[in-house]
Amino acid sequence: MRPAQRKVIVVGAGSGIGAATAAHFHDHGDHVLAVDIRDNATPASQFARCDLRDAAAIAGLLAGLDPGWDLLAYVAGLPGTAPANDVLRVNYLGMRLMTEGTLPLLRRGGSVVTVASVAAVGWEQRIEALNGLLEATDAEAVERWQAAQDPSYPVYSTSKQAAILYVKRLTGPAWAKYGVRVNTVSPGPTETPILPDFEQSMGKDMLDTVRTVAGRHATVDDIVPVIAFLASPEAGWVTGQDIQVDAGFITSLTAGAPIEL
Ligand SMILES: NC(=O)c1ccc[n+]([C@@H]2O[C@H](COP(=O)([O-])OP(=O)(O)OC[C@H]3O[C@@H](n4cnc5c(N)ncnc54)[C@H](O)[C@@H]3O)[C@@H](O)[C@H]2O)c1
Repeated sequence: MRPAQRKVIVVGAGSGIGAATAAHFHDHGDHVLAVDIRDNATPASQFARCDLRDAAAIAGLLAGLDPGWDLLAYVAGLPGTAPANDVLRVNYLGMRLMTEGTLPLLRRGGSVVTVASVAAVGWEQRIEALNGLLEATDAEAVERWQAAQDPSYPVYSTSKQAAILYVKRLTGPAWAKYGVRVNTVSPGPTETPILPDFEQSMGKDMLDTVRTVAGRHATVDDIVPVIAFLASPEAGWVTGQDIQVDAGFITSLTAGAPIEL
């Protein structure tokens, strides 16, 4: 049954998809805790500042929270234009620390939705490399791992691949121990303030190609309903999934020759 008022934590609520996610739940009458590194005017019930690169800041935030939450939406992210270690700290490690710290605070039947990216495409072929990153549970170990990697491989893709693989490996234990579902949503290019950084780090031509094939870039209104569905009781038997929200762009690249119509 859907609780009358849900308690929702949105991490990265200051801008873009996170702000729209917070606004969605706020508009539905839910209690929203909006977390970000910067002050913001996002519609929410409660605000917290937290630098997700900082494990102590995450622990401090979690220590101040009572149990009984319905959803952790981890939407925060840094693009590949940011320093590599910051990208891994926010997109992978901070997500992991927030998730593991929030699991005991979620009610049974609650869920975690993490925003990854279609830039994680090919993660299944990188599991061996990602195993080492998933063994890293503090910033120093993450930094050591990254120092040994090929610097030409895009760290943003690595961070999102690690997020997807981590959530998949968390699926069974989160269900068995806490009765909590965990899923990722992987948007394609989406009109938010981060998009120019993606054009810089991934190449504007590439993103323009995606826009031509799809007809347009996504907006937050394409992404937020998918997050909301995964958080809803209607998705009560859906866990461990990565949902690409990209008008089929990645599928059309990976499924082989298209059916002629
Ligand atoms: N916009 C796109 O094209 C696109 C595509 C695929 C995936 N994504 C992912 O969607 C998520 C949301 O991105 P967006 O498009 O809304 O971008 P955005 O830049 O508008 O929002 C990102 C938010 O994360 C916050 N953040 C960054 N570093 C932080 C830190 N150290 N501590 C706390 N908060 C921090 C920012 O302050 C900002 O509010 C990200 O994970 C991004 O990687 C975006």
